[in-house]
Amino acid sequence: MRDPVTIFHLSDIHFGIEDNDALDWVKAEIDRHRPDAVAITGDLTLRARRHEFSAAEKWINSIDVPVTIEPGNHDLPGYHLPSRYLRPLGRFEAFRELVERRLEVDGIALVPLNTNVSAQPRLNWSKGWITLRALQDCLAQIDALPSGTRVLVTAHHPLREAGTHGTALTRNGAKALEALARRKVLGVLSGHVHDAFDIMEETPSGPVRMIGAGTLSHRIRSTPASFNELTWDGETLCVIARNMEGVSTHDMMVEEVPEDALPPREEGEPVAPVRHIPRTDPPVE
Ligand SMILES: [Fe+2]
Ligand SMILES: [Fe+2]
Repeated sequence: MRDPVTIFHLSDIHFGIEDNDALDWVKAEIDRHRPDAVAITGDLTLRARRHEFSAAEKWINSIDVPVTIEPGNHDLPGYHLPSRYLRPLGRFEAFRELVERRLEVDGIALVPLNTNVSAQPRLNWSKGWITLRALQDCLAQIDALPSGTRVLVTAHHPLREAGTHGTALTRNGAKALEALARRKVLGVLSGHVHDAFDIMEETPSGPVRMIGAGTLSHRIRSTPASFNELTWDGETLCVIARNMEGVSTHDMMVEEVPEDALPPREEGEPVAPVRHIPRTDPPVE
């Protein structure tokens, strides 16, 4: 039996409103378990400000395992339109080589799929949009991998709604999922909705597993700050959502995706209470 590959899937740290207790805990877990890779699926910052990126850089540089980062909608300059159009990822300059980075570890490849665009023909630009070029880039990278390589796609927005309180409403998500189903990817990792999930999505070309990580910021929705721990033993991909109260079981429901997207939470509407889940993992030392 091979040694399992372990990947820590983090998302939505939102430096600016980051949860430092949660980040200290995650860093200690990374140091203790030394995963083969850390995948961060976007929204590193709150408003793409320089001091937020500096804090992100400092924290990411403290991790000494391979890291790949997907940009999120919060990481594009929001108020400076020329930068948003001409250099949407310009603020990542200090660690640009980690962004949209393909990582290969022991038969598993993490392949990026960009779900952000600089502008959209709809009012809410925070939602996901997969351009033809972004999809082609992702598929070309998958198709170029050595045969037998298993693929985890990293994206910021879930490609379809996952029944969470927050929504992604990703345009062209269904088309992307179908193309990924044809390639039999192991799963699509995403963030954005600030709650963890793990569901199978049916497409005309077969099922695709969609795995979402929660947030490590104070902007929680229905569940506490958390990250996902993925292990692959060559046959089974095991996903657990971990938070400081314990390992979530309730938040990792495998169920059908509802037909209708849930409406986004209104400004000022109270956040649902945090579920307290019995601790089942070893206490942090
Ligand atoms: Fe976010
Ligand atoms: Fe987001």
